[in-house]
Amino acid sequence: MQIGPYELPNNLFVAPMAGVTDRPFRQLCRRMGAGYAVSEMVTSRKDLWNSLKTSRRANHDGEAGPIAVQIAGTDAPMMAEATRYNIDRGAQIIDINMGCPAKKVCNKWAGSALMQDEPLALEIISAVVAAAAASGSNVPVTLKMRTGWCESEKNALRLALAAQEAGVAMVTVHGRTREQGYKGQAEYTTIAAVKAALHIPVVANGDIDTPQKAKQVQALTGADAVMIGRAAQGRPWIFRETAHFLATNETLAAPTVAEACDWLIEHLFDHYSLYGELTGMRTARKHIGWAVAGLPGGEAFRQVMNQLDSSQAQVGALRQWFAALADQYERLPYFVGDLVNGGAVTNNINNNEEEAELLA
Ligand SMILES: Cc1cc2nc3c(=O)[nH]c(=O)nc-3n(C[C@H](O)[C@H](O)[C@H](O)COP(=O)(O)O)c2cc1C
Repeated sequence: MQIGPYELPNNLFVAPMAGVTDRPFRQLCRRMGAGYAVSEMVTSRKDLWNSLKTSRRANHDGEAGPIAVQIAGTDAPMMAEATRYNIDRGAQIIDINMGCPAKKVCNKWAGSALMQDEPLALEIISAVVAAAAASGSNVPVTLKMRTGWCESEKNALRLALAAQEAGVAMVTVHGRTREQGYKGQAEYTTIAAVKAALHIPVVANGDIDTPQKAKQVQALTGADAVMIGRAAQGRPWIFRETAHFLATNETLAAPTVAEACDWLIEHLFDHYSLYGELTGMRTARKHIGWAVAGLPGGEAFRQVMNQLDSSQAQVGALRQWFAALADQYERLPYFVGDLVNGGAVTNNINNNEEEAELLA
């Protein structure tokens, strides 16, 4: 799998998720077998570039390349400037967000709302490609989109072809329309049509929550790579499980309880160091909640843990909880269905809206 000059270790991608795929989470997913990780979206609004939020989003300390930064905005010159700004700060790939459905971003005609205005979408794509080319650093531009605006306006294929023509190096398609938000089911027919028509790599995304589903989506779409978002929350080992299944057709055993606890705590320390004690402790709660979702007693623990008010108390409680779980089980005793239907997915939708509102 190749994006411009970059050869990737595999074709399993972690999806960009505002408020989730920060540098510590991306590094965790990569350690767990993801071959590629795109950062959370960074606004093209210059007045926000010096904000703490944007500077944390632009943090790539110690991250393995290629460093891919997603930008979002509605104005071509501003998006070109955001491209130059991020390349100057180390971005090796620029990804344009035309996939995010959240209200405020859409009111301002960014994210997936841009799919409704193809001329503007193309103006932005061309401006970003030109800015990346002018940098002289051989920075590929990629595009993330949905299948279209609504059921009757599925223009992903037309837009993807035009983007390819404009110089985009890879297209990712989430198999839902903007109108759908996160409701219903992702469909893969449109992604297959995009893949069949393009000569650049195409990535399939949407509702991939098991290694088996990853294989199925790959077969249905013929896509060059698959991208996993919500199912990686609290369960980043889905990447190594998927890599194993794709290579051998066999299911990898769940991690041991002790392994999962160590990985989670390592992630938390990295998280606290990026966000500081107070913000770090608060924002860590969602990661802990996702990690225990679907495990016996996980929901009760999440409620207790949400009352704790220091990182030390969080880590201590988590160690204790996992130690008790390890007394009963050697390996994580959850079922994928519990995760998808009971916890992570529902939480994430709210989180997505919330984060995007803050960004706009
Ligand atoms: C919490 C959250 C935040 C997201 N933020 C972004 C974002 O910043 N940029 C983007 O292109 N897509 C964003 N998405 C969409 C995901 O990248 C992905 O397309 C979507 O979740 C479908 O994949 P999945 O079914 O594997 O989760 C977000 C999704 C979630 C759940």
